[in-house]
Amino acid sequence: MAKIDLLLGLQWGDEGKGKVVDALTPNYDIVCRFQGGPNAGHTIKFDGKKFVLHTIPSGIFNDKCINVIGNGAIIDAKIFKDEVDGLTAAGVDVLDRLLISSRTHLIVPTHRALDAANEKALGKMKIGSTLKGIGPTYTDKTARRGLRVGDIMSPDFKNRYENLKARHLQEIRNLDFDINTLTLDGMTFTEYEKVWFDAIEFMKKFQVVESEYFINKALDEGKKILAEGAQGSMLDVDFGSYPFVTSSSTMASGVCSGLGVAPSKVGRVFGIFKAYCTRVGTGPFPTELFDEMGDQLRRNGHEFGATTGRPRRTGWLDIPALKYACMMSGVTELMMMKSDVMNDIKEIKVCVGYEYNGKVIDYLPFDACTETMKPVYETLPGWDCEIDRNIPEKLEGYIGYIERKVGVPVKFVSYSPDRYANIYR
Ligand code: GDP
Ligand code: IMO
Ligand code: MG
Repeated sequence: MAKIDLLLGLQWGDEGKGKVVDALTPNYDIVCRFQGGPNAGHTIKFDGKKFVLHTIPSGIFNDKCINVIGNGAIIDAKIFKDEVDGLTAAGVDVLDRLLISSRTHLIVPTHRALDAANEKALGKMKIGSTLKGIGPTYTDKTARRGLRVGDIMSPDFKNRYENLKARHLQEIRNLDFDINTLTLDGMTFTEYEKVWFDAIEFMKKFQVVESEYFINKALDEGKKILAEGAQGSMLDVDFGSYPFVTSSSTMASGVCSGLGVAPSKVGRVFGIFKAYCTRVGTGPFPTELFDEMGDQLRRNGHEFGATTGRPRRTGWLDIPALKYACMMSGVTELMMMKSDVMNDIKEIKVCVGYEYNGKVIDYLPFDACTETMKPVYETLPGWDCEIDRNIPEKLEGYIGYIERKVGVPVKFVSYSPDRYANIYR
């Protein structure tokens, strides 16, 4: 029996998961998404082309790889159709390479409206969500009233949709939100709803399966499977900086429930992090930089959201947070991304603890917040040169330092968005 490998973002998302999954895909028969939905934006670049995937796993560009949208993920039919259309136009055969779990929950148009209404009601305390309806969809899932992909074939589907919609409209009114002021992908709510129903028809062409059986059978047959995380460990609904988190389990435990695989079937756990940190949306970020260095990281790293286009907040590497993420998911090997972004920095700071309530701590308190946590830094020399196929000595120093602090080996270093710009250590 084979084991399933996991690839998980260890920070606040956008670590470069799309690039790495695409680069690793030749080693795998199956790639699966197990949580999250189109809040994800996974960028893949090769042969001068660029793709951003939101719902479809990043193994889709390899014609030998089967891709699975697992039960723990959520799907918006309209966003899914746009994505498939874009890939098909680029010559990628999605239909034959993609399976969707019958248990995957549907994001309906009023989930998106509710997301906007909730955010507006929160005012200054808003989460800074991607407005894709993620929170409301997972809320309905746990409240046991959600609609699933398997339901779209049911004669009762429209009826159940209307019941759910009526409930949402009431909630939206209670929040004093006028749905007629909303634009969804440039459309009014009513226009969007129609396009969404057309997309539901489109989805019926795809293979809907009991993916837990498919995956476990594939493991029994010795097939190689990779689970592709979305978001990052610090956005996990249990262990992230709650309430400024997403609504799913982004750590290793999410794979078991999000695909239906037992913990004993988990193999390698790849943990991926940027050589520095970024975050989009609101919420604590102790090492955030508000100065020229922060701007430089944003400029050099093109740190603008792949899903929303928002500028990403930037800061130094946070070791306690990285260590926490490795502990929680049992990371077996680290992958460091975007090293090139720091090529011209003379001195690099690394956060090794926080001043918190008058003490220095090196763990994450449950109520972590920027106001009460002042980072404690150590300073390291930058490598101050280009990276090309080899790791410069001072970059080796930076990597060795991280390995010692975190206690997990760095096996892979990425130095450009391109599929092939990787060094295996
Ligand atoms: P994901 O959500 O984890 O898949 O990451 P995103 O795609 O949202 O953001 C990562 C961004 O960094 C994308 O624009 C990638 O093309 C880019 N990227 C990935 N690896 C590297 C790297 O090593 N160097 C640079 N400069 N860019 C990278
Ligand atoms: P990938 O997979 C970065 C953030 C949002 C917001 C919070 C909640 O590309 O790494 P949500 O829409 O999920 O309710 O938003 O989570 N967020 C992400 N940040 N990368 C992502 O995905 C994200 N998905 C959600 O900005 O702060
Ligand atoms: Mg992203």
